[in-house]
Amino acid sequence: MTTPAYIALEGLEGCGKSTHTKRLGEHLNAVITREPGGTRIGSLLRAILADTENTDLDRRTEALLMAADRAQHMAEVIQPALTRGQHVVSDRSIYSTLAYQGYGRQLGTDALLSISTWALNNRLPDMVIYIDVPTDILNERLAKRDLDRFEREGPEFFARIAQGFTELRNADPSRWIVIDGTLPKDDVEADIRTKVLDRLGE
Ligand code: TMP
Repeated sequence: MTTPAYIALEGLEGCGKSTHTKRLGEHLNAVITREPGGTRIGSLLRAILADTENTDLDRRTEALLMAADRAQHMAEVIQPALTRGQHVVSDRSIYSTLAYQGYGRQLGTDALLSISTWALNNRLPDMVIYIDVPTDILNERLAKRDLDRFEREGPEFFARIAQGFTELRNADPSRWIVIDGTLPKDDVEADIRTKVLDRLGE
């Protein structure tokens, strides 16, 4: 049997991560989960993090709540699934913290990397699928929905995050798989599946 893998999907809001987390997870018979919010405690933290009333949430508090969610997620969902021999497919991961809090909120990545690595008990994702969609297309998609606390930020915030994701990918190319997210959904799904199965050796 293939060694169970921890696979994360990353990208900006509206890129299609949630759809493709579900489709890939179902194909692999994996545990399908997300950050923040993959556990009961995580759902409570997600509600604080997404609430548009929380305009006074300090950026370090925000980063620590993301790390707290991640610690609970590793302990309760990810590690037990891998130990049972099941793949894990997660909508977002530590790399969202590095991009959003590190670059978007301009906290830098050094402290965040060590806090999140500690929260994960050193178990980083084996593979990161980055769904790449230009920000002008994403803005059109976002215009059609109710926005959470992050989605209400301005274009500079998202430009910094996009730049952050680019730098993170370039610094660690063997872990990342970049997918063209502008293609039709079924083509994106097929591309992700082919590349992941290839990496898994299945
Ligand atoms: P979503 O796009 O999956 O609904 O994620 C919720 C929001 O949380 C999204 O705007 C990205 C943000 N986020 C961070 O800022 N840092 C993190 O570590 C994670 C996991 C998400």
